[in-house]
Amino acid sequence: MQTSSIHGMWSSRLAFVLAATGSAVGLGNIWRFPYITSENGGGAFVLVYLVCIFLVGLPVMFSEIVIGRRGRMSPINSLKELSDDAGKTRAWMGLGVLGVIAGFVILSFYSVVAGWTLHYGFLYFKELIGMGQPITDPAETFTGLLANAGELTFWHGLFMLMTVAVVALGVEKGLERAVSILMPMLFVLLLILLGYGIQTGHFMEAVSFLFRPDWSQLSFGMVVTALGQAFFTLSLGMCAIMTYGAYLPSNANIPAVGTTVAISDTVVALIAGLAIFPVVIAFGIDPAGGGAGLIFTSLPLAFAEMPFGIAYGMAFFLLLSVAAWTSSISLMEPATAYLVESTNLSRKGAALCVAAVAWMLGLVSVFSFNLWAEVSIGGRSLMDAKDFVTSEIMLPIGGLLTALFAGWALSSAISREELDNKMPNWAYTAWLWLARVGAPGLILIVMAGRLELF
Ligand code: PHE
Repeated sequence: MQTSSIHGMWSSRLAFVLAATGSAVGLGNIWRFPYITSENGGGAFVLVYLVCIFLVGLPVMFSEIVIGRRGRMSPINSLKELSDDAGKTRAWMGLGVLGVIAGFVILSFYSVVAGWTLHYGFLYFKELIGMGQPITDPAETFTGLLANAGELTFWHGLFMLMTVAVVALGVEKGLERAVSILMPMLFVLLLILLGYGIQTGHFMEAVSFLFRPDWSQLSFGMVVTALGQAFFTLSLGMCAIMTYGAYLPSNANIPAVGTTVAISDTVVALIAGLAIFPVVIAFGIDPAGGGAGLIFTSLPLAFAEMPFGIAYGMAFFLLLSVAAWTSSISLMEPATAYLVESTNLSRKGAALCVAAVAWMLGLVSVFSFNLWAEVSIGGRSLMDAKDFVTSEIMLPIGGLLTALFAGWALSSAISREELDNKMPNWAYTAWLWLARVGAPGLILIVMAGRLELF
């Protein structure tokens, strides 16, 4: 059994929790969760999403960390070694390959949206120093940005450079420190926004939109979307957490760290929802209208009214960029670690190759808003198609395979040992059967229902 990884190790279990929370908390919580929720009609969607987090997300989270820590390498090679050791087929490596591909595709649109947040941070910065125009009509500002391919490419490129810089330097120092200071700051800003939301007088409407289920909205399509959001927000199903697990010290308790990450992520998403929807409602934006621009078209209306709104808006978007940054690093890490292990590229060279490919793929997302706005695949723009294929197809399938591998291919002696002997028997058995049958079964049923197989 390997006790360390050639790529470096987290300095403590807290460092892992910070890094994995940094991976989980990002645009998925603050940009994607509110707009997907609004498109799916609120309450019923949120409750299904919460069920998916606990019944599917948590067991898959434990499975990824177990596989990663046992294998101590990039997902593809960890799966190879562990399959060999267990006398199972090497076809399991396909899960790692799927993860690496999903990582590229997600990174390629994630970085474009992170570019929007950088751009907004910069707009507020210019306004703050008296050199920019105030955002008087947020919807127009947003449409204007999307129409400008050059501007989008610039911010997408800058964000990709920021990501590659950290990945090239390795996982330990910079990342840990940045995460431990900046993530709590973002959380405080969200709480301030929540306070603003409460005093708009529309807080209870937001609560009821988010939590009062209208079960007429329930459909297989909606459940798959909720499942996809659960995977996306927890960074699961594409081997990112598996890769981070490879750098987790042997004495860390996997159920404890995994649960902490899942709960923190969920709390951030719910607080983001509770902070954003009162604003959406107060300014008369139709919450069911949604759209990927939701936070960019609604929050500036609040910032324009809040005391110190410009400075606040700047801090909010810059910290959101940081949250996106700590997530995109984990999107890049699996492919980079694989290249370091399997080629003679240095870490820097490997990270640069990954970033270059993801950046080019990202141009497809950039152009989907302007030059190629007419192109659609199955009724979706190229941007939406990438988002759909990854979160609603690749991540659930990745999660399904991860759970099956941890539950069936690994011996229970190994998973028991990794999951910590202090875990009570009933909890271990519950995890084992959720990984073996419960989570894969639920994923299969909702995907089959979505495809109208029954
Ligand atoms: N979880 C991240 C977010 O919510 C996105 C992500 C998905 C990161 C998959 C890594 C892997 O923003």
